[in-house]
Amino acid sequence: MNPNTFTSFDLATNLPAWKALEQEFKQKKDFSVRQAFKDDSERFEKFSFTLDNYDGSKILFDFSKNLIDKSIFDNLVQLAREAGVEKLRDALFKGEHINTTEDRAVYHPALRNQDDKPMSVDGKNVMPQVDSVLNHMKEFSDSVRNGSWKGYTGKQITDVVNIGIGGSDLGPVMVTEALAHYAKPDLNAHFVSNIDGTHLAEILKGLNPETTLFLIASKTFTTAETITNANSAKEWFLKKANDQSAIAKHFVALSTNEAEVVKFGIDPKNMFEFESWVGGRYSVWSAIGLSVAIYVGFENFQAFLKGAQAVDHHFLNAPLEENIPAIGGLLSVWYNNFHGAQTHLVAPFDQYLHRFPAYLQQLSMESNGKSVTRTSQFTNYQTGVVLFGEPCTNAQHSFFQLLHQGTKLIPADFILAAQSHNPIDNNKHQRMLASNFFAQSEALMTGKDAEQVKAEGAEPKLVPHKVFSGDRPTTSILAQKITPATLGALIAYYEHLTFTEGAIWNINSFDQWGVELGKVLAKKIEPQLADPGVVDNHDASTNGLINQFKQWA
Ligand SMILES: *[C@@H]1O[C@H](CO)[C@@H](O)[C@H](O)[C@H]1NC(C)=O
Ligand SMILES: *[C@@H]1O[C@H](CO)[C@@H](O)[C@H](O)[C@H]1NC(C)=O
Repeated sequence: MNPNTFTSFDLATNLPAWKALEQEFKQKKDFSVRQAFKDDSERFEKFSFTLDNYDGSKILFDFSKNLIDKSIFDNLVQLAREAGVEKLRDALFKGEHINTTEDRAVYHPALRNQDDKPMSVDGKNVMPQVDSVLNHMKEFSDSVRNGSWKGYTGKQITDVVNIGIGGSDLGPVMVTEALAHYAKPDLNAHFVSNIDGTHLAEILKGLNPETTLFLIASKTFTTAETITNANSAKEWFLKKANDQSAIAKHFVALSTNEAEVVKFGIDPKNMFEFESWVGGRYSVWSAIGLSVAIYVGFENFQAFLKGAQAVDHHFLNAPLEENIPAIGGLLSVWYNNFHGAQTHLVAPFDQYLHRFPAYLQQLSMESNGKSVTRTSQFTNYQTGVVLFGEPCTNAQHSFFQLLHQGTKLIPADFILAAQSHNPIDNNKHQRMLASNFFAQSEALMTGKDAEQVKAEGAEPKLVPHKVFSGDRPTTSILAQKITPATLGALIAYYEHLTFTEGAIWNINSFDQWGVELGKVLAKKIEPQLADPGVVDNHDASTNGLINQFKQWA
């Protein structure tokens, strides 16, 4: 293993197991999962796994409706071995510098280490610092929730506004929505991320500065969108409060840049820090989760961390052939690199999880949308999938047509919790929801052939239109209930799935150089928009657009 890149190979296509899988794919072009169930009465037992959470709850992962047999499965596991997934995983949990392009550790597992066991980066135990921030979050969230934290006119906080973008927004938004059942009725959470002034303006419309608390979430406290939104929020606040010293009661920072935080007017006592080894898309477990802790209470936040930790333990200790997130990642590689699939659909049959696919988009695509290996070579194979999704049953009425009868292969994950938090109408809604969850994966797999369609009396010319090819793969994830612990586990499942994909593709899943160029160009263009002159130093299209914009603005 090369100590600087944590890898002993260049291109995944050179691994023997990759070649074996190519052969298998060719030989098994007509593999039918429908048929595989007929041939093997134990297929469900063989390819489904139960994850045990720390609180005794369980999540069932059914991989059996995927386009695999025992030999493909074994070769995929072998591919993970040859690619060194286990070694890289162990390096992750040891705090080694696996963010190779920046020579940094990637250590979000430490943020959910609730075991009182040391975890170290560069020989330093980071747990005292992690625990001290958690204690600070506990004390602060308690005092906002119990009303002992007061605004500048002595009133209790009723609205919390998190201002952040990317990882400082997507996680908190998704988790507060998912855990809304656990919130207090008299405390609302809002999120402002977009630089579009509409986002801030529409949220502030309904709010009272006396009872509003702003959390400014930016690691460097220099993120352009966040600081611009924060300054505008401060202006809105001061218009009413008219007193600089009141800022400290209404603004706190989730950041590491004390100098900038103090300059803004925030009391450094109300600054919540996190370390350089916390990447944005893994930061909901850190101080960035403060809005979550305030909204659902610290105990629920802690249960959320413990749920993720249970998956960390599983990922670290389970052998690859029983390792649930690793299997998820391997299936993704199987479809992406051998079947030529371009996408990965995640459809939660759960309204609380309606932002989950949006959250996973950053996790998956910012991590694995790369085309250079850790050994600095261009890949000659596909990497990051296009992850998309919407909650069901809604999605069934929008894009599921393409899933069932389109020309593309769309591997899909369906997620359902058996127990609803809202069993209204004698649980009828839940039974309808669940029936759709079971029916969709069944329909995608079994399909409907021309014989059946004819037997149902279809007009001959309509027969082909009514045929469903079937054999379309799905993974079903069945939880017991969407609790903080379940949600933590589900997120960690997708984190480690993404990690496994990146390890096999031999890319650095932890940097994101691809977001830089657009930012740099925008900075150059912004002053040109304020300047009255004609712009002529870009390509003709960009010039034309800018000049038209200036005429119309
Ligand atoms: C509210 O929470 C804070 C922080 O934990 C605590 O110091 C305070 O005593 C609590 N107040 C009440 C009224 O419970
Ligand atoms: C890896 O390094 C990049 C560049 O410094 C940084 O932006 C990113 O957050 C790091 N990733 C993690 C997971 O720490």
